[in-house]
Amino acid sequence: MNKNYFSSGRVYIFSIFLLLFVLFFSCKTNPTNQNLDKTELRPSLKSIYPYVQTDQKGVLGKNGMVVTAHPLASQIGLEILKKGGNAFDAAIAVKFALAVAYPRAGNIAGGGFAILRFKNGESTALDFRETAPLSSTTTMYLDEDKKPLSHLSQEGHLSVGVPASVAGMVELFEKQGSKNLSWEELIKPSIKLAQNGIILTENEANKLNDYQEEFRKWNDEKNCVFIYKGNNTSKWTKGDTIIQKQLAETLTRIKNEKRAGFYKGKTAELLLKEINKGKGIITQKDLDDYKPVWRKPISQTISLANSDKKTAYTILSMPPPSSGGIALAQLMQGFTNYINQNRSPLNLKHNSATTLHILTELERRVYADRATYLGDPGFYDVPQKMLLDSSYNMERNSTISLFKKTPSDSIKEGKVNSIESMETTHFSITDKEGNAISLTTTLNGNYGSKVMVSGAGFFLNNEMDDFSIKAGFPNQFGLVGAEANKIEANKRMLSSMTPTIIEKVNPKTGKNELFMVLGTPGGSTIITTVFQVILNVTVFEMDIQDAINAKRVHHQWLPDEVYYENLDDAVITKLKKLGHKLKKVGQLGKTEAILVLPNGDFVGAADYLRGDDTALGY
Ligand code: DON
Repeated sequence: MNKNYFSSGRVYIFSIFLLLFVLFFSCKTNPTNQNLDKTELRPSLKSIYPYVQTDQKGVLGKNGMVVTAHPLASQIGLEILKKGGNAFDAAIAVKFALAVAYPRAGNIAGGGFAILRFKNGESTALDFRETAPLSSTTTMYLDEDKKPLSHLSQEGHLSVGVPASVAGMVELFEKQGSKNLSWEELIKPSIKLAQNGIILTENEANKLNDYQEEFRKWNDEKNCVFIYKGNNTSKWTKGDTIIQKQLAETLTRIKNEKRAGFYKGKTAELLLKEINKGKGIITQKDLDDYKPVWRKPISQTISLANSDKKTAYTILSMPPPSSGGIALAQLMQGFTNYINQNRSPLNLKHNSATTLHILTELERRVYADRATYLGDPGFYDVPQKMLLDSSYNMERNSTISLFKKTPSDSIKEGKVNSIESMETTHFSITDKEGNAISLTTTLNGNYGSKVMVSGAGFFLNNEMDDFSIKAGFPNQFGLVGAEANKIEANKRMLSSMTPTIIEKVNPKTGKNELFMVLGTPGGSTIITTVFQVILNVTVFEMDIQDAINAKRVHHQWLPDEVYYENLDDAVITKLKKLGHKLKKVGQLGKTEAILVLPNGDFVGAADYLRGDDTALGY
């Protein structure tokens, strides 16, 4: 070795310059870094809501974290935490705030699911899913020749399931609210928002413009504040303010009378009057009878051999009538087997052709099970034990070939109308005590049935389309079903919503500790989006925000196509060689997550590349 050469000061300086030069250009040319350039992060949204998440690597918080689809809702949730409310109080305030600020999915006349984990490590699941009205029948969306009439299950008064959101929030408050803050204090910020007006973001203005025709079809212009009142070419634009006076009055009745403020009295009268204007079948008895249900989360512990260490996680997610928890557990079992047995020979990398082929093959099998075996457990004996059984899943996945895809051609292909639209919404909240809630809520389609209750200012859901209206006939997400999810009076329609909380086993104490809170909208793509974000963190060892930002893929058995946001050309070519049909889509999911660091701090990560989503912590 030439001592003089290496000890020369000039060479040192030159080497440092060279290193900086290389680093500078490798960052410049890396498209991911360009995307995440901090100065460029959502300036337009920031000009309306200055506190919006602009931290490109997630938001740090010591005491609490709120991650939602709208900056106003995140802000309201954060205020509740700061005032001494717990995560469940904040969830109630956020839920009502989304009904005002994010009307395409936030709601008081839809439903949803939540996973709760308490500071003592226990957990539970709240099911506030809509039900089929009492006079529903299995054939209600079929004509005389038994041909499906999906326009009736997807839009208008007959598509409405019995609203569940308000009953769900009252139940959450009564059983889990801290009582440091009153019910009134949780609803007041949303009433103010409705009275003072929401300022439209560009995304929300565009969405409202897209639906003007449907709004006019189902609503009287006078009553629907979202119908643009100018001439036909007028449009909503970013910065417009929308005041929702009637909604403020409805929210005030809910504030004053809790459940009775919605299910009885003036709100119920207006709701039933609206239902009777169309071909709706909901009655006062349906409203009186509606009950949320506490359930036991699906709990799946997996042990991952990763970077020479083994880590165990427990995944807590939603049981039936959502398919989310079971399907996610099946997918995690399947992928864990590949990782633990084959990772080094296969060298599975994030979004490589082999990884995506395996994901697709696992998803194909899981979604076929979903179509056949999942429905409301109160009406159908869901074979939960079998579906979660490791030998069952091993056997089922043993037919996966690494050299070609398995065709899904046994049933007529599903038609997918709206794989790209994000009509549901999810939020994740943690508090300083160690409580966490993961809550997904929906009207089903964008603005639900498109019917706004005249005089009450809120949209009704179109959740009835989540039933299988005819065996093998696809719903708006292309999902098929049969006996298990057929329509029956008072039954809950099958869902894909997958609110999830993950615990990590502390190797020193052997105890489960809170690790991650996450969920997403996306209809049929919810399950696979949650699955991929979990893999990105646990298997591919990404930071939480990168795990959310990463491009996603989706397969759901039928139709037999792989949906993808973006992939390298070489990966697409390889997947095609394995026999896969691919379809590029605009967006898969819109995830809101919180990760707990080893020191107990929270990292909030909102899906800022896909929407106005915002994490706020303190
Ligand atoms: O419960 C379900 O699975 C559907 N109603 C969810 C709809 C949905 O996520 C739409 N958003 N993209």
